[in-house]
Amino acid sequence: MVTGAAGFIGSHLVDALVEENKVIGYDNLSSGKKEMLEHLEGEENFELVVGDILNKEDLSEQMERCDMVFHLAADPDVRVGAENTYVHLEQNIIGTYNVLESMRKKGVRDIVFTSSSTVYGETDVIPTPEDFGPLKPISLYGSSKLSCEALISSFCETFDMRSVSFRFANVVGPRSTHGVTYDFVHKLKEDPTELEILGAPPGTSKSYFYIEDCIDGMLYATKNAEQRVEFFNLGSEDYITVKRIADTVCRELGLDDVEYRWTEETGGSKGGWKGDVEVMHLSIEKMKELGWSPNHDSAEAIAMTVRALTDNL
Ligand SMILES: NC(=O)c1ccc[n+]([C@@H]2O[C@H](COP(=O)([O-])OP(=O)(O)OC[C@H]3O[C@@H](n4cnc5c(N)ncnc54)[C@H](O)[C@@H]3O)[C@@H](O)[C@H]2O)c1
Repeated sequence: MVTGAAGFIGSHLVDALVEENKVIGYDNLSSGKKEMLEHLEGEENFELVVGDILNKEDLSEQMERCDMVFHLAADPDVRVGAENTYVHLEQNIIGTYNVLESMRKKGVRDIVFTSSSTVYGETDVIPTPEDFGPLKPISLYGSSKLSCEALISSFCETFDMRSVSFRFANVVGPRSTHGVTYDFVHKLKEDPTELEILGAPPGTSKSYFYIEDCIDGMLYATKNAEQRVEFFNLGSEDYITVKRIADTVCRELGLDDVEYRWTEETGGSKGGWKGDVEVMHLSIEKMKELGWSPNHDSAEAIAMTVRALTDNL
């Protein structure tokens, strides 16, 4: 089962998995779209079930047919938590609990989970390794992902299950529906002379990595993980500022002389909103020791994404 199958990352994951596996995509289509998967129509290895992970009975019924879960369904919007303190608790923590509980009841032992770099909060160790601590998330989203990791670990140890959790840097690529690159491409399509940028110059510095690297890394580590409960950072080997992203997007769109208008609303922070980490660069040494490394750096990933997104505008 892939929860969140009709989303950005989920739909790419399904594409890779159906080559060798029967896949049930489970998605409530809240931010996901059926069109993300329409190219799989007629694919006998794939079935989309429209359902909500908050609906325990339905989820358990579908779980009956599964032997492994990739759990991606979540509310991925970091900003929401500063306005509504319940969303991430419900969609992410309770949702993950429901997935684990239905797995336990149906004897499904393997879960792969999409966590996030936001579990680290602002760190003073850059690049940040998996064993950095104490973990002090600065957003409710980050705390929800950390809570999910803890729930998964305890279910695995208590009920003889296995897990691989990935702390992702920012994933970019075709079919993305949110994030800074998506935002800039769409804003510049509306007005190619001026770009509103959330935060203060030069903005946050973060790692971005391409969706193909993301799926490849996930599947590689899932196959090769050795511990019962594993954690891997997954991202590119560098990090770039928002200013550099804006420059890259403008160059890819062939735009000169775009005026950048920084909102500077976060009281001295370079972030675009409350809970936006200023510097995020994950150490991917653990993945490299396992034998995997990404093919693209942050700027390449952004440039490839701009090309993919503009093809679809
Ligand atoms: N995109 C990134 O850069 C990034 C970074 C770190 C972690 N993640 C995590 O990766 C996962 C996928 O992210 P994405 O970028 O593809 O986001 P997305 O919004 O495109 O995908 C999430 C999917 O989950 C579905 N969903 C949400 N709530 C649901 C529910 N209650 N029941 C069933 N389905 C539900 C949505 O409809 C959507 O299809 C998320 O868990 C996210 O937190 C993403």
